Amino acid sequence: MPLLDIARDADAAPSSGGLLRGWRKRALMTQEELAERAGLNVRTVRRLENGGLWQPRTRSIVLLAQALGLDGEERALLAAVTRGLPGEGEGPAGSGTATTVIVPRQLPADVAALAGREGELAALEGDRTAPVVSVEGMAGTGKTALAVHAAHRLAPGFPGGQLFVNLHGHARATLPVEPGAALARLLRALGVPGQDVPEHLDDRAALYRSVLAEREVLIVLDDAADEHQILPLLPAGPGCRVIVTSRRRLSGLADVANLPLDVLPAAAAIALFTRVAGPERVADVPDEVLAEVVERCGRLPLAVRVAAARLREHATWSVHHLLDRLAGDRLAELRAGRHDVAAALDLSYDRLSPGLRRAYRLLGTHPGGGDLGAGAAAGLLGTSARQAERLLDELLEVHLLRETAPGRYRLHGLVREHASRARPCPGD
Ligand SMILES: Nc1ncnc2c1ncn2[C@@H]1O[C@H](COP(=O)(O)OP(=O)(O)OP(=O)(O)O)[C@@H](O)[C@H]1O
Ligand SMILES: [Mg+2]
Repeated sequence: MPLLDIARDADAAPSSGGLLRGWRKRALMTQEELAERAGLNVRTVRRLENGGLWQPRTRSIVLLAQALGLDGEERALLAAVTRGLPGEGEGPAGSGTATTVIVPRQLPADVAALAGREGELAALEGDRTAPVVSVEGMAGTGKTALAVHAAHRLAPGFPGGQLFVNLHGHARATLPVEPGAALARLLRALGVPGQDVPEHLDDRAALYRSVLAEREVLIVLDDAADEHQILPLLPAGPGCRVIVTSRRRLSGLADVANLPLDVLPAAAAIALFTRVAGPERVADVPDEVLAEVVERCGRLPLAVRVAAARLREHATWSVHHLLDRLAGDRLAELRAGRHDVAAALDLSYDRLSPGLRRAYRLLGTHPGGGDLGAGAAAGLLGTSARQAERLLDELLEVHLLRETAPGRYRLHGLVREHASRARPCPGD
């Protein structure tokens, strides 16, 4: 009988009791026979099957697994569902013993105050019909900040815990995390002992789905490289929800709701700037000046944050001085500590194919930086209109380009500056 069916045979949840009963029936054994074969007291077997509420010693699990002829995956599942419950000898829950259920709580710290994003938050919190939501947008647009904030708010609805994995889809000096490696970490966080994590990717994914089948867990998959990376990490159970973030539009997955994330509205961008710079630094500054500052940052949260951090770092600067500086080489200006707009865009650029990198560089030479159609793009790229459209589509897919109206395209101001000075990669 497949693992999941056995788990579902259990009365309500894949408790150790339900699983054991299913496996014992499969082995055509009575409780007495199982107890005898495992060398355990029959009362132990009965309590496990009936209550499923107390945790057998590791030795008891091993003995039962041997007696039942469980395979590696089944042993791992049994180990996972019996962890974190009151221990053997402590008596069943309800007898006055405190129950310490271990659940993963992996969410990173929330942003101090999320600016704007009311609509997106409502979509993330309100849509219970979409088990997987993918927050997508250009570098630094606030995908991780939004996903983490939403996950903190949603967390109380997921008593099975919250998992967070950085998939390093766009990281310096690190390749995207292999799905198998991500699954191994997720399984360990869910209580599967390291030695019980199966070798093969498919077996890991199957065990992951089995462990999550009846749990209510919220999973954040941050910075996904593409669909292939996240597909094995999607649970099948109805109680789990997944929030993915990605710089790429994940259109190849069924049942994934796409939530595109644009730059911030002016008021929210000003609120973010004020909070990071410190309200006292902007107290006497007219709103139009602050609006001009955030506009020069393209209202990109990362850029707004960096600009505000620069002001905070330099006690002698005024907002007007910052504004003047942003009139020059903006990308050089928008760099503070580990936050760097150009470096963030480099990571997107580096991931492109050589042909797409060339197209990106040429689009950066478009004079004026306004909208352009496929015809004008074909002129810049030296291709047919059809080929140009294909290249533009690919750049749309990785959020390095925006479609302002059907057939009309535009680069974000900071992206255009980046594209205009990008150099071919070695070997292009
Ligand atoms: N709405 C917001 N309110 C306050 N701070 C924000 C907001 N959006 C983003 N930030 C801040 O801006 C910076 C960039 O945001 P974040 O890292 O979430 O972007 P991202 O889209 O995930 O970028 P990447 O594509 O590089 O992963 C972070 O410091 C984040 O805390
Ligand atoms: Mg991110």
